[in-house]
Order: sequence, then structure tokens, then C-alpha cells
Amino acid sequence: MAQLWGGRFTKETDKLVYNFNASISFDQKFFKQDIEGSIAHVVMLAKQGILTKEEKDAILKGLTGIRQDVEEGRLKITDEYEDIHSFVEANLIDRIGDSGKKLHTGRSRNDQVALDMRLYTRLEVLYVDELVKELLGTLLRIMEENVETYMPGFTHLQKAQPVTLAHHIGAYFEMFKRDRSRLKDIYHRMNYCPLGAGALAGTTYPLDRSYTASLLGFEGPTLNSMDSVSDRDYVIEFLSALSTIMMHLSRFCEEIIIWNSNEYRFVEIDDAYSTGSSIMPQTKNPDIAALVRGKTGRVYGALMSILTTMKGIPLAYNKDMQEDKELTFDAIDTVKGCLALFEGMIRTMKFNKDVMEKSAMLGFTNATDAADYLVGHGVPFRDAHSIIGRLVLYCIDKNCSIEDLSIEELKEISPVFEEDLYEAISLKTCVEKRLTIGAPGPYVMRKVIETQKEYLARDWQDEDAIDIPR
Ligand code: ARG
Repeated sequence: MAQLWGGRFTKETDKLVYNFNASISFDQKFFKQDIEGSIAHVVMLAKQGILTKEEKDAILKGLTGIRQDVEEGRLKITDEYEDIHSFVEANLIDRIGDSGKKLHTGRSRNDQVALDMRLYTRLEVLYVDELVKELLGTLLRIMEENVETYMPGFTHLQKAQPVTLAHHIGAYFEMFKRDRSRLKDIYHRMNYCPLGAGALAGTTYPLDRSYTASLLGFEGPTLNSMDSVSDRDYVIEFLSALSTIMMHLSRFCEEIIIWNSNEYRFVEIDDAYSTGSSIMPQTKNPDIAALVRGKTGRVYGALMSILTTMKGIPLAYNKDMQEDKELTFDAIDTVKGCLALFEGMIRTMKFNKDVMEKSAMLGFTNATDAADYLVGHGVPFRDAHSIIGRLVLYCIDKNCSIEDLSIEELKEISPVFEEDLYEAISLKTCVEKRLTIGAPGPYVMRKVIETQKEYLARDWQDEDAIDIPR
């Protein structure tokens, strides 16, 4: 057991207490960030004359050596250390002796862990954004190919009005686009450096916090040291954005599962993205979609957990906050996995366009248009609504569609109907006439697709010149 704080203690920590308190099993995930933060801290300490150039060089050599040895497998991160910060510091002292003991000058693990978690989260925001962007590219390709693929649009899972596949997929495009904009907001809001906050009250050393902030690519230093060490808002915001992404994926998965069912057959999930049953030879299960839907709960759980952890803790740092890590890391990995798998599933999925079109023709999806036809011929909408209602009842009785009726039958229900009704309520007309911006009409849909293309080409990461480190 290697502890940084043994001086004041006269007894060894109880083994169970040690294990309960330790975080190395999970905070080793930000090993790289811990080294990165220490490097910036040391460079700043030397610039401020708090460390000599020799001490700085020795520490930097030690830190980069530790990083290389861990990355190349020569040095193992073990639970002999309480946390990743202790692991790095203890190894540094082993390597370079007394100068290593100066690394922690003007720093506390409280601002150190706040920095590490922020650096880790900041990078993951970019990784997640990249995956969402990739998914958007795939959705846009599907949209471009299906501007005239007709399908029923649903409300209450009842066939409502005809739309196109491009339009339906376009709805998800909007959702994931908003997700990206949430990630961008979070990135900018969190991009301030807590290092130098010390345990809670800053330090008495003449640190240059703006300098460390700029070395680490932050907009600037945080402005209140107590808040710096006890703020986990960015974790909450990120988990909230991740939960929203999962909610969107989950709705999409639910639809795919319905569309992939024997009853619908709108789509066929590729064999590579399906699984079988151990007993029923005929089944091909949409398990990937179901798992993505299922894992949504897990990500929501992480959000609820951190919200609950944070709600009752007084300022400033408290050990409760160590609980921010495991579930957050799990949620990030889960969402990244789900995004990648979902993208592959939808990219390889087959859309049964003829089945979709046939389905759009049944279920009276043109009833609103038939009412609009009457309105166009001077019938008040409320009367038109009721006439078409009776017409639908008549058709249900005859087990046919509106367009299957003869003009004589139609005229018996309303003398206003003429031959041009058939054209007016054809699937093609119903969709093509929907021309307001945001509607499925192919003319406007193509315009929207152009806008979305421009949006995808104009990347916020390019705009802000943020390089994603690998
Ligand atoms: N493992 C701790 C955490 O995750 C690091 C900070 C510990 N600070 C302290 N004063 N014990 O929050």
C-alpha cells in the first residue's frame, strides 16, 4: 500500500478501508491526462521560478519515461497504489529521487483530479461528436437515395399520411444534429482549467494559472477555486447529452424492430447485424437494435447516479465525487459502441421499397387529401371531414380503398366529386403537394438535403481548429 499522506497517521489503514477508498482500478483510465496535466504544471512552476530548470528537466524526463513504459507494457499500473495520481508520483520519486517530490508543489489531488476528469471528458466529447457525425453522413446518403420512396407516416402507430423514407430518416437527422450542437455547447462551457485551485483555496505560490490553462488548450483558468474542485456540471451535462443521444438511438431502434418484423417487412437487417435463436431455426432476431434500446437505461442510470451524488454535498471537494468516474466511463464507452454499431446496422440494412409503398397505399393515408379536394371545391373543412369519414366507413365495409370506388359510388356520397379526384388523391400527388419547408414533397426535401450537406461539410471542429489527439 503506497500512500501519499502517511505522515499524520500512526496506524496502517485497514485493508478493507484501503480497498473501499482506492480508485486506481478505474481512474487509471485517465493515466495519460494525469501525465499531461503534470507536465503543464511543472513547465509553469519552472517558468515562475518555483522549480529550477534542472528540476523541471528531471521531472519531465521522469514523467515521459513513465508514460512510455506504461504504454509499452514495461510498467504495470497495479492496485498497490491508491489512485493514478499516487502511482505517477511514487514512480517519479523512485526514478529521479528528491526532485520528484517537488512535482506536487502548489497542487492538490483535488484540483488534479478535477483537471484529469475534465481533460478526459473534453476529449471524449470530440470522439462522440465524430461518431454522431459519421452516422449523420450515413443517414444523409439514405435520404438522398429515397426522396421518392413512399411510405406511410404514423401517428399513434396508426397509418396517418404518406411521407417518404427520406423524410422519415430526415427526422432523425435533425435529432442527431441537435445532439452535436449540445456537445459543442458543452465543450465550450467546460473548457476552463481548474489546475491551481489547490485543495480549495488556491495556493500561496505565485502560479501562472493562465499559462497552464493555455498549455493544456483551455480558454482560460476557472475563476473560483472552491467551484473549480467541486464542479462536476460538465459531467452531468455530458451524460445528459449522451442520454439524449441514446434516447434518439432507442426510438430509431424501436422503429427498426417494428419495420423488420414479419408483419411490416419494411426493412431487412443484414445477416451480419442479426442473431438467431437456439431453438427456432427460422428466426432472425434484431438483437443489435434491441441491445441499443436496452443500453439506454444504463446510460440514463449514470446520469441519475451523478445527479444524486452531487445533490447533497457541501463545498468544496468531498470523496463522494470519486463516484463520478466508473459510471461515466461506462456510459461514454456504451454510447460510442452503440453509435458505431447502429451506423453499421443502418448502412447495411435493406429497405423494401415496394412493401413500404404498398403499405402507404392502404389504410386511407390519402383521406386528408380527399377532404382537401372537397375544400378546394368550396366545401367547408368540417363538412369535408365528415363526408370523408362516411366515405372511409363505406370503404371499410367494402374492404377497399377510396380510389377503388367508381365515380358513381363517390358521387352518391358527395356530388362534388369529379374524375380528377383519382389524380388528386394518388400517392404521388399526396406527397408531391406537400411543399412547405420541412414537408416530404421531393422538391423541398431536396432543398433540405442540400442544406444538411452544407451543414455536414461545415464542421464545428474545423471551425474552431480543435485537433483531436489520438
Ligand atoms: N480519487 C479521488 C477522486 O476520484 C482523487 C481526489 C482525492 N482527493 C482527496 N483529497 N482524497 O475524486
